[in-house]
Amino acid sequence: MITKENSQFVEISNLIKEYPNPYGEDFRVVENFDLKIKEGEFISLIGHSGCGKSTVLTMLAGLNEISGGGIIVGNKEIDGPGPDRAVVFQAPCLMPWMTAFDNVMLGVKNVYPHVSKQERIQIVEYSLSAVGLGDEMKKYPREMSGGMQQRVGIARAIALQPRVLLLDEPFGRLDSLTRMELQDVIIDILAKEKLTAMIVTHDVDEAVFMADRCVMMSNGPKAGVGEILEIGFPRPRERKEVFDDPNFFAYREHLLAFLEQRSHIKGEPRVFANGEILGFMDKERVEVIRRNHEKVS
Ligand SMILES: Nc1ncnc2c1ncn2[C@@H]1O[C@H](COP(=O)(O)OP(=O)(O)O)[C@@H](O)[C@H]1O
Ligand SMILES: [Mg+2]
Repeated sequence: MITKENSQFVEISNLIKEYPNPYGEDFRVVENFDLKIKEGEFISLIGHSGCGKSTVLTMLAGLNEISGGGIIVGNKEIDGPGPDRAVVFQAPCLMPWMTAFDNVMLGVKNVYPHVSKQERIQIVEYSLSAVGLGDEMKKYPREMSGGMQQRVGIARAIALQPRVLLLDEPFGRLDSLTRMELQDVIIDILAKEKLTAMIVTHDVDEAVFMADRCVMMSNGPKAGVGEILEIGFPRPRERKEVFDDPNFFAYREHLLAFLEQRSHIKGEPRVFANGEILGFMDKERVEVIRRNHEKVS
């Protein structure tokens, strides 16, 4: 039975993010981003580069301050990071002088200082085995491939026993074969641990294959949820079955059409004095900033 609690496990409401621009003005990157996520659901978040995907994910992680609106996870409004949410970024940033085991243990010690040593060892061993590194626990990062290092990053995240797993382009640096292996690792873990998850990706195939719903973000500034596509494939999903299913291509085309359509309404890229492109704005906004800037200088 779906109760209210588990039908809206994560509630992102009217989320706003403003970053200051070089002229001291607030530049609204995300506006009124609304999304309810069911417990155990897997969401993929796609959108053009710079639209604000990482901004939304890091706010959900509690690592990036919220400018407006709110996020509730499991009936509790979030206020900073917490052990209920773990993040995997593109690069795992392992401690080079520590083995895979010790890298994972580091986080476990921080988050569960009162758990017995024996139990902590069990958690670390279980997590590394879950990502297929049961026999490589004593290896140092320099002895591991990029894919293996990212497995350690995933083990480190699940060892914290989170309820929500957040993945920001976690396979972006990996070759396609390793990418597929790790997609399967994540899918297995989510099913086993009954985690709720969100993956930011710009790979349309990945977005469809992995998720229950693909959330398409509109372009910034003031980016929000543009469209949501339900992916009807049952679980467990077999890669070959999914990729051979005619619906797979329909879903894929839908996402590509959304992205293609949006690529024409980006607005003007605004290059600031330091040469950095801070985002895409509509022409009127660029004009207002230009006039303000002239007044100041
Ligand atoms: N710390 C920051 N300060 C100022 N602007 C930022 C900061 N982080 C991101 N931005 C801007 O916010 C927008 C969204 O960034 P981001 O969330 O990283 O996009 P995405 O992950 O979709 O590529 C971009 O225009 C980016 O330049
Ligand atoms: Mg990003």
